[in-house]
Amino acid sequence: MDNRPIGFFDSGLGGLTCVTHLMETMPKERIVYFGDTARTPYGSKAESTIKHFSMQIADFLVKKNVKMIAIACNTVSATCLGDLKERFKDIPIVGVIEPAAQAISLTSSIRDRIGIIGTKATISSHAYRNIIASFDDRLKVYEKACPAFVPLIEEDIINSDIMDLTIKYYLDDFILENRIDTIVLGCTHYPLIRSNILRLYPELRIINPSKEMAGKIEDILQEKNMTAQKPENPNIFYASDLSENFINMIDKIFEDVPTKVKFKNLDIDAV
Ligand code: DGL
Repeated sequence: MDNRPIGFFDSGLGGLTCVTHLMETMPKERIVYFGDTARTPYGSKAESTIKHFSMQIADFLVKKNVKMIAIACNTVSATCLGDLKERFKDIPIVGVIEPAAQAISLTSSIRDRIGIIGTKATISSHAYRNIIASFDDRLKVYEKACPAFVPLIEEDIINSDIMDLTIKYYLDDFILENRIDTIVLGCTHYPLIRSNILRLYPELRIINPSKEMAGKIEDILQEKNMTAQKPENPNIFYASDLSENFINMIDKIFEDVPTKVKFKNLDIDAV
């Protein structure tokens, strides 16, 4: 038993979509979340910048005495999972891509045409394609960077023609030319536009990697006998900029769960 919280982080509010899955499957766990809303988006930044930000956040979470770190960001998982594991050897660290890539390979056939969508950094790393190929190299995988999605989602421009047009801008030709039948939401922000995508392309099978990540977290905690039984503290959500949308999103997602929202600027001091 271990009642300490699990540390989650993302460039912004996208990682909240991973937290919701975990809360459904493991309601006794408590979360310390860090959303780097002041510096989002990460996906179009240099790898060295993404690494620097990620190390700062992981340092902060470790000082908050988390029992595990869940990287609720594909961009960070694609670019610096190895560096984070190397630096924080004593704590389990889970990325979002590997559990999902494994599940995709198990649930897909060689007739499927799988489209991975994500940020520029995730897509140029080919992390999904490579990991899927390591499980089954016969699967057909196509990749498309959609860098405008994250800024629009962070601004809550979701139920809008602007979002629908942006989705069509990126996906119409991609889906048509590659005859895509399965779309993997390779960015934790994208589940927030899942219903837009489904409305525009109703035939698609849509895969949300956050679910697989929650499953992986559960497996590790069970295996290490580290599940929480009687957590005392509320969930805490830190953001480097307390945007109105971040606060609203937390209110909307965690209506019935005790939560605290706090501002934290990692550039001023580390704790
Ligand atoms: N949610 C992050 C991801 O999964 C978004 C990255 C960004 O800030 O561009 O990749």
